[in-house]
Amino acid sequence: MTGGCQLAGEVLIPGAKNSVLKLMAASLLAPGVTTLSAVPEILDVDVMADVLTTLGATVHRDVATGTMTIDTPVTPGAAADPDLVRRIRASVAILGPLVGRCGEARVALPGGDAIGSRALDMHVNGLRRLGAVVDIEDGVLVARSSGRLQGAAIWLDFPSVGATENLLMAGVLAKGTTVVDNAAREPEIADLCQFLTEMGARIEGIGGSTLVIEGVDELRPATHETVPDRIVAGTYAIGAVMTRGDVFIRNGRAEHLGIVLEKLSAAGAIVDVGGDGFRVSMDDRPRSIDVVTLPYPGFPTDLLPQIIALEAVSQGVSLITENVFDSRFVFCRELLRLGAQLRTDGHHVVVRPATQLVGASVSASDVRAGAGLVLAGLVADGITEVHEVHHIDRGYAGFVENLRALGADIRRERDAVAA
Ligand code: UD1
Repeated sequence: MTGGCQLAGEVLIPGAKNSVLKLMAASLLAPGVTTLSAVPEILDVDVMADVLTTLGATVHRDVATGTMTIDTPVTPGAAADPDLVRRIRASVAILGPLVGRCGEARVALPGGDAIGSRALDMHVNGLRRLGAVVDIEDGVLVARSSGRLQGAAIWLDFPSVGATENLLMAGVLAKGTTVVDNAAREPEIADLCQFLTEMGARIEGIGGSTLVIEGVDELRPATHETVPDRIVAGTYAIGAVMTRGDVFIRNGRAEHLGIVLEKLSAAGAIVDVGGDGFRVSMDDRPRSIDVVTLPYPGFPTDLLPQIIALEAVSQGVSLITENVFDSRFVFCRELLRLGAQLRTDGHHVVVRPATQLVGASVSASDVRAGAGLVLAGLVADGITEVHEVHHIDRGYAGFVENLRALGADIRRERDAVAA
């Protein structure tokens, strides 16, 4: 891409990746046909569809209408294909529904993880509280329950999104009451709760940090529209600010981006909410802002690379703190190649104003880092090549096409190598 554009126009926000993958997993909770709409055209959805297919479901997707139907068998398989599971961490979301409904779930662990390691300890401990026996067998996490799971009170050490979702999906068919305390409050979890309720589940406290689930004997399939993707919406909003543009983010839910839009306003942007979305415009060099990532409603870690890219072209010094993941700053190395002035220290990064970012060849290490690098390339002088863009395909439908429609000088090279 060649930097120097001002993004202007309108972009339509699809359903959220982090919601739809869990809605798909939840379809395992009831035999019959689940229908999901606003399904984004992204790679992770394809992989999750393959996971469900290997468990015996029949998945049909109509890309033109964004609709997916999942026909779940009366007795789904227990073991997901390890190669597929290793490709997306979200596939761990099949654990709760499968053990809850069928009494057994087998999910391969990435790279020989052990139970008790940071990555899945809250999922495992929670399922054990519900009465499941959880072991590692040949690198596969196996959860079993001889009868129905038994409702219990569970306190999470940290409001983990994935653990909250797994325990919700395990609790809905358990005997008695399950309470998940210190639950994550992300809008995608409220969306999952809504879907489970439509399936016949009884959940109180939706949107809060204490979820009370009254187990039911069985659930029925439902039809549900996926909540819009707040991270995709936030990415375009930050792009509008960085390029001093003017973008209407149709179907964006401003109420899910409270602190993000507040920060963009503090940077000097004008944010107008209304008319089925919100509009972000900017006509000056952004002022620097400090950002601390936290579980929702804090600033989302999934917008960290994008906000660091913004700070790299802002005036003044900014301090960014990452509190959720420890490997996000890998992205900073690539941003340095574009001339950003920044220094990381532990989970902090200090970003100083650069006179001008300069195009270079950089590489995406994950989906959000890829988006951050593309935004940086849009304001860098000259040509920027972003490699490994298959990461971006995991979470952004039509990213290049959308940016081009907004005025960016960007193209995707054959072999999906550069954007
Ligand atoms: C989800 C999102 C991801 C987002 C993240 C935080 C999906 C598919 N992914 O990931 O985009 O960045 O929420 O908003 O929805 N942890 C443990 N033990 C556990 C579980 C988690 O230590 O049992 C740690 C993780 O290592 C991480 C932190 O808790 O440091 C947050 O993880 P979690 O909230 O579970 O994120 P995910 O569900 O994996």
